Amino acid sequence: MEKRRLGTQGLEVSALGLGCMGLSFAYGTAMDKQQAIKIVREAYEQGITFFDTAEAYGIANEELVGEALSPFRKEVTIATKFGFKDGNALNGQDSRPENIRAVAEESLRRLKTDVIDLFYQHRVDPNIPIEDVAGTVKDLIQEGKVKYFGLSEAGVESIRKAHLVQPVTALQSEYSIWWREPELEILPALEELGIGFVPFSPLGRGFLTGAITENTSFESTDFRNNLPRFSEDNRKANQKLIDLLSVIASQKNATPAQIALGWLLAQKPWIAPIPGTTKSHRLTENIGGASIHLSADDVRKIDDAFSQTTIQGDRYPAHLQKAVGK
Ligand SMILES: NC(=O)c1ccc[n+]([C@@H]2O[C@H](COP(=O)([O-])OP(=O)(O)OC[C@H]3O[C@@H](n4cnc5c(N)ncnc54)[C@H](OP(=O)(O)O)[C@@H]3O)[C@@H](O)[C@H]2O)c1
Repeated sequence: MEKRRLGTQGLEVSALGLGCMGLSFAYGTAMDKQQAIKIVREAYEQGITFFDTAEAYGIANEELVGEALSPFRKEVTIATKFGFKDGNALNGQDSRPENIRAVAEESLRRLKTDVIDLFYQHRVDPNIPIEDVAGTVKDLIQEGKVKYFGLSEAGVESIRKAHLVQPVTALQSEYSIWWREPELEILPALEELGIGFVPFSPLGRGFLTGAITENTSFESTDFRNNLPRFSEDNRKANQKLIDLLSVIASQKNATPAQIALGWLLAQKPWIAPIPGTTKSHRLTENIGGASIHLSADDVRKIDDAFSQTTIQGDRYPAHLQKAVGK
């Protein structure tokens, strides 16, 4: 698979990474650990060298990622994240320097490694100056415990302030055909500063693949039950998008998921999306998205088609929206 550079500090990753969250967290019942390890290893065997986890995805998530990747640890980039109270996103932020340090130690242990390649702040903490967060990660880098610094869903002002203290290698925020807000201020700032971008939920949490319809019922523990965009009415209204995507996909002899990923890769050469899946055949399908080379004309046609329809439903409920873009 093609490699991409994120930031200007030397990080190079596969153009598509693997988002590991859904293997054991957020989207219903966790996978059996051995099955999850198998998926992670299949991703590596098919060319993925960039793996995404977080303290907030639960102990099991980092542990399975660490175990899966241990045979080829030196060949891969492992990204994880700190910054919630007791590692629980429902408890609010905690980026006190002592917590960042404690999470780093715990993550190193769970990931069975002596260095975290990319350490993101999961959400900006309104109570801790971003300079102190950047300074703490800078110290961890100097101590050899972390290689690169990242932020997630941070606003431009925080990115600029952090970058002055410790260069930011990558920003990870939601970005996809149906969530384009980063185009307004974030992408121009990243381009100016030489920071890479890692779009999360690049498949719209599954919706952009066409596999989710108004008739889909999610398990009671599935996080998508909380998202306005996934209400039954909004899924029904947004189905038009999938119809458009399916037409474009068939013209390109590809699937909607592959077009959604190819569209992201075509935006900038310093973008590396991290789709997630629990299924081998979908993993292979998604990896095929890295070979979809869309021209500027293709991208324009997709944008034109999408601009004819309004996407219904907020991506987050109000209490979660409050924590983003700070
Ligand atoms: N920084 C943050 O705050 C943040 C927030 C959310 C996510 N993330 C990261 O981003 C990663 C990816 O995001 P995500 O998992 O939310 O969303 P995503 O990658 O957009 O979509 C994942 C969903 O799509 C389904 N899917 C995947 N490939 C498919 C295909 N080819 N056909 C049909 N369905 C398919 C998966 O179901 P199956 O498992 O059934 O295939 C899963 O439910 C996460 O794993 C996590 O590492 C970060």
